Amino acid sequence: MLGIEHPIVCGGMTGVGTVEMCVAVSQAGGLGMLTALTCGSIEQMKKDIDEIRRRTSKPFGVNLTILPAIQPPDYEGYAQAIIDKGIKIVETAGNNPKKWVGMFKAAGCICIHKCTNIKHALKSESINVDIVSVDGFECAGHPGEQDIGGLVLLAKAAQKLKKPFLASGGIGTGRQLAACLALGADGVNIGTAFCATKECPWPQSFKDRVVSAEETDTVLMFRQLHNTARVFRNKVAQEVEAIQNEKGADLDFSDVAHLVAGDRGRKAEKAGDPDAGIWTAGQVVGLINDVPTVQEFMDRFVSEAETTIRNRLSGLLTSNARL
Ligand SMILES: Cc1cc2nc3c(=O)[nH]c(=O)nc-3n(C[C@H](O)[C@H](O)[C@H](O)COP(=O)(O)O)c2cc1C
Repeated sequence: MLGIEHPIVCGGMTGVGTVEMCVAVSQAGGLGMLTALTCGSIEQMKKDIDEIRRRTSKPFGVNLTILPAIQPPDYEGYAQAIIDKGIKIVETAGNNPKKWVGMFKAAGCICIHKCTNIKHALKSESINVDIVSVDGFECAGHPGEQDIGGLVLLAKAAQKLKKPFLASGGIGTGRQLAACLALGADGVNIGTAFCATKECPWPQSFKDRVVSAEETDTVLMFRQLHNTARVFRNKVAQEVEAIQNEKGADLDFSDVAHLVAGDRGRKAEKAGDPDAGIWTAGQVVGLINDVPTVQEFMDRFVSEAETTIRNRLSGLLTSNARL
């Protein structure tokens, strides 16, 4: 449906979903994703789309993340510009996608929508989304409020969904790709693991942190505010955690606003200081051991999946089972 060589999609990523990343993933046979709001303006997004087209003839998508904000971006303007630029694959995420999916579908786009629970996945199908991205509790960013891990969520998605779905959250190895396909997914959506590549615009210090991290090195913020976000466990995230624990149900956003401000995160990135602000990462950090190019990551990932399916799984059908 997407015209890609490998069933691997790069999720939209604030600050990371740039031209460079998008081109690298598409060139390596996956679906690269330009993150619209990261372009900074509608005009810049249009230029970035042109630049991607100059650098790859392979398919790519554009992510539009719709989140409540005090001063919301011009979502409608972004959506219209995506359509006007003739983009054929769009990933939406965030609140109530009906209006946006309606716009994109009317323009003939293939719509991928990201959901963290089965109720929303079914709702997405009902509003004509083409591919549902099913994001388990392990994921970076917004895992939702129901805390259902991928193993159950994907098995349930296979039981309930009629449309193709992507397994998302916590995926960084080829064995996991094989497992997700076995669970019924048609492909995988990856975020954090693509951040630990040479093409990711993160400073090397962030990538080094990811490589040395364990799967326990993420923090859930804003639980009490019902807007949970999973971020890397650095000094600032631990400060937020301490305040959350102290305030409990009385937590107000203003208690942590100075620590979690997007500006502060961007300054930390610019300064290359992984402890100076909040940055998004998922539990898969515990599975990341190096910083390859996107092409190297994809080659290894696909080949490990193939080996797992050919050697390990088919072997289990014969007398090789170990238990
Ligand atoms: C640095 C970073 C920024 C992200 N920003 C967004 C975003 O702006 N919009 C969005 O829909 N998802 C965002 N995500 C989530 C990813 O698209 C993807 O769903 C998620 O990372 C999958 O989980 P994984 O990181 O365990 O692979 C972000 C993830 C990361 C790591």
